Amino acid sequence: MLKRLNMPLEESTLTAPVLRDAENADGYGATKAAPALLRQKGLPRILRLRPGLGERRCRPMSDSVWINGEVVPRDEARIDLEDRGFQFADGVYEVVRIYNTRPFTLDLHMARLARSAEGVKIALPIGRDELAGQIRKFITERKVRDGYLYLQLTRGAAPRDHRFPKEARATLLFYIKPLGPAPVPGEGEGLKLLAVEDERWKRCWIKCIALIANVLAKNEAVSTGYDEAVFVSGDIVSEGATSNLFAIIGGKLVTHPIGSKVLPGITRAVVLECAEKLGVWVGSGLIVRR
Ligand SMILES: Cc1ncc(COP(=O)(O)O)c(C=O)c1O
Repeated sequence: MLKRLNMPLEESTLTAPVLRDAENADGYGATKAAPALLRQKGLPRILRLRPGLGERRCRPMSDSVWINGEVVPRDEARIDLEDRGFQFADGVYEVVRIYNTRPFTLDLHMARLARSAEGVKIALPIGRDELAGQIRKFITERKVRDGYLYLQLTRGAAPRDHRFPKEARATLLFYIKPLGPAPVPGEGEGLKLLAVEDERWKRCWIKCIALIANVLAKNEAVSTGYDEAVFVSGDIVSEGATSNLFAIIGGKLVTHPIGSKVLPGITRAVVLECAEKLGVWVGSGLIVRR
């Protein structure tokens, strides 16, 4: 059930160094740019990393879609009625930010896509490097300066049956939506967060297209005057409906360890890396509500 509350946070009594170990185990590589941390006003010590993609206005654009190796105008792209993504949410996805004509941290996204695909037992129909090359080419040809690329991989089309189809060919597609330039650091207004009971499955590390729990949580938040929902289990705050969550507690930057409750967000990895480079003290432990 949903609960509204202010979110005074404090560090849990867990002090084992789980966070750093979990980060290292993820094997995230070096990244170059530092996204802005937007300090929240009126919310105690919660940092929201960036507005959700849907919160920024898109310019209209007649677009094309890369689908199963072909580039076609969007209104000619076809998905079978029995695509398992459509019928079972049997698929995974990625959203890659494009800054100044370049996909940001594409290699990290490709690595997460491969982990997610493996997690749901879908074989990528083309190799990771080839896919990354196709994505870069597609972005260059579209001449988009700032935007995002949405990519979806499903188990493909087959007569409806819960059992994996023997013959289905995975459906892989991506397309671009333009966005305005990145917000200026320090100019964010702060966002109001609504705590929502976490009723999701236990494999949140998979970026699965089955997002109904996130959709319901986000809409409950927005329809009641909040900007984002944060998932809570017991007293533990894990992540947002569309974002990872950071808090500054006792001078330390704290975020939930990756695992069953949290998506290994690319922004999260970049922030942690930037924090380390800047000498910010990254604390271990969990974020709990008082
Ligand atoms: C549940 C959830 N957590 C975290 C994130 C942030 O992930 P990333 O930084 O890779 O965009 C998202 C983004 O969609 C999300 O849906």
